[in-house]
Amino acid sequence: MKYKFKKLDFSDAKAITESANNKNVAKYLRDAFPQPYTLKDANEYINYAVNSKNDIIYGIVIENFVNGCISANFRNDVYKKSCELGYWLAEKYWGKGIMTLATKNFCDFIFQNYDINRIDAEIFAENIASQKVLEKVGFEFEGLHKKKIYKYKKFMDAKTYALIRN
Ligand SMILES: CC(C)(COP(=O)(O)OP(=O)(O)OC[C@H]1O[C@@H](n2cnc3c(N)ncnc32)[C@H](O)[C@@H]1OP(=O)(O)O)[C@@H](O)C(=O)NCCC(=O)NCCS
Repeated sequence: MKYKFKKLDFSDAKAITESANNKNVAKYLRDAFPQPYTLKDANEYINYAVNSKNDIIYGIVIENFVNGCISANFRNDVYKKSCELGYWLAEKYWGKGIMTLATKNFCDFIFQNYDINRIDAEIFAENIASQKVLEKVGFEFEGLHKKKIYKYKKFMDAKTYALIRN
């Protein structure tokens, strides 16, 4: 299935709200991704995306609407040559290979355009789909962090993965 990246703008707020307002999408994301997800949340996120100097954030356009997002958060200090990857996709498009391809293309773009030697991601250990995306793109498993996550009044393990510049 075809997709395109786009820089977010406020005209994307409605579409983002429609796909982000889903418990299944939020289940393995940080509390910063609210649930329920309102139009106000989408506008705040877009405002952050438009103005942030520390992040590259793209909307993932499928069938003319933003149906997910992918981001790189650039670190500072001694970590300034690395960034953290994040992504989510509307549930109706899961399992079609979209995020594997989008992640591969996004990481290639980051390495080609930024002075970064490492892209990493931290996932909920239960998040098999995300684990598969990272492994298929070439990320290496770096470690299990026991009970690092506390969400829905439950402790959960986290896993970290990294892609190092060749
Ligand atoms: C994780 C997520 C981005 C995966 O996107 P996707 O486009 O469905 O992924 P792909 O289609 O490229 O699939 C990657 C692999 O995961 C598998 N997969 C997809 N959904 C799955 C699910 N719910 N459970 C188990 N495996 C799943 C696919 O079958 C594929 O494996 P395969 O190649 O062995 O068949 C998507 O499920 C999502 O947005 N989840 C909610 C937000 C989230 O968890 N973000 C990641 C935070 S780190």
